Amino acid sequence: MDRIIVEGGVPLKGEVSVSGSKNAALPILMATVLTKEPVIVRNVPRVRDVFTSLQLLEGLGAQCRWLGDHDVEVHAAKITSHEAPYELVKTMRASFVVLGPLLARTGRARVSTPGGCAIGARPVNLHISGIRQLGARVQLRFGYVEAHGERLVGARMWLDAPSVGATQNIMMAAVMAKGRTLIENAAREPEVQDLAKMLNSMGARISGAGSHVIEIEGASHLHGTDHSVIPDRIEAGSLMAAAAITGGDVLIRNAPVDQLDSVIAKLREAAVQIENTAAGLRVQRGVALKPVELRTLPYPGFPTDLQAQLMALLSIGDGTSIITETIFENRFMHALELLRMGADIAMKGATAVIRGVPHLSGAPVMATDLRASVSLVIAGLAADDVTDVGRVYHLDRGYEALEQKLASLGARIERVKGTSVQP
Ligand code: EPZ
Repeated sequence: MDRIIVEGGVPLKGEVSVSGSKNAALPILMATVLTKEPVIVRNVPRVRDVFTSLQLLEGLGAQCRWLGDHDVEVHAAKITSHEAPYELVKTMRASFVVLGPLLARTGRARVSTPGGCAIGARPVNLHISGIRQLGARVQLRFGYVEAHGERLVGARMWLDAPSVGATQNIMMAAVMAKGRTLIENAAREPEVQDLAKMLNSMGARISGAGSHVIEIEGASHLHGTDHSVIPDRIEAGSLMAAAAITGGDVLIRNAPVDQLDSVIAKLREAAVQIENTAAGLRVQRGVALKPVELRTLPYPGFPTDLQAQLMALLSIGDGTSIITETIFENRFMHALELLRMGADIAMKGATAVIRGVPHLSGAPVMATDLRASVSLVIAGLAADDVTDVGRVYHLDRGYEALEQKLASLGARIERVKGTSVQP
């Protein structure tokens, strides 16, 4: 199995570009089944979750082909299967959002429930409740959600939590429903907004995406489109943390600056210099990191998907930082590995107290999810000696060419095949 070996201590310098957003691309790819016509999706990151999505779409009968490195055409002229199988959904929970568009297009869908996850229980009750409120008959059989509804009818609904996936799933189910749907307490994430923009370019009538209330007027049918996915705000934030932890000076091109307000504010509070220039976001650090307090929150609050990266950064801060994770109940797994690298972190429930240490020290480490894995790479960039990061397949799910991008900034980082490398 591949590993990533990082030899820390090099301040990152240079320019790097942010890829298309994984979490925007995945639901957008699922939305392509809403029309018989070809859909072109551009700026798609070449990551494993995208390949899994294309595999899922092909299983439903769609034809998928890459038009270039980052542009994909999906043509779901005919749907030949109504099933998203367990084998795929268990490897990528985001597959569950195919339920809404498949049901809207064909009147039925059979989608495996995703099961457990390393970062929390992550139920799908809000997705199912929303789809039921649109008039679909939904039952759970043999681990699959089976939904039927020839003609869905618009409804007014309130989400108990502003779930990103449930908002996207319900929005896609409702685009061709009869009449008007109102989703109250909807998720406001940029990835929801990008999906709404893509759906509107297919003929949907969605307004309010980005606010707490999304209104959808049912359309009779949707047509093909050509849509470019937004840049990945989480990759941009991860690169900012990498530049900052090494005391580097990096220009991050193509960063979605407007979507990073909460992140930029926290990094500035930690004494990282951030300048929004015409060429990109310039991130520098010349002084010791100051401690900060942060809570993860739904957008526009601080994103849970950058919590691990900030924890790695703050672990070498000059003082005590406090991080509270409010979105997922088990998202501190990286802290245990950071402890093995010499960090001083105490956890109680949803709160982690991080007492800054002068140095981290390299170690063989591994993580159980994508963002935890990248936080260990980030820690390794600043650690003494060698950090040997295992389970690289987590990183490959969501970061495009991570080691090439970091190496281009001067990091001593390489991917190796096989067993652990000891310093
Ligand atoms: C999306 O997951 C992202 N995934 C996650 O990114 C991200 O961490 C999360 O949103 C929060 O921002 C994709 O976009 C593919 P939620 P999602 O539904 O939609 C609870 C990454 O690393 N909830 O907004 O699954 C849930 O348990 C991934 O790229 C219910 O209770 O997240 C959680 O506590 C990890 N019932 C909260 O809502 C439901 O039916 C928010 O989850 C659905 C969710």
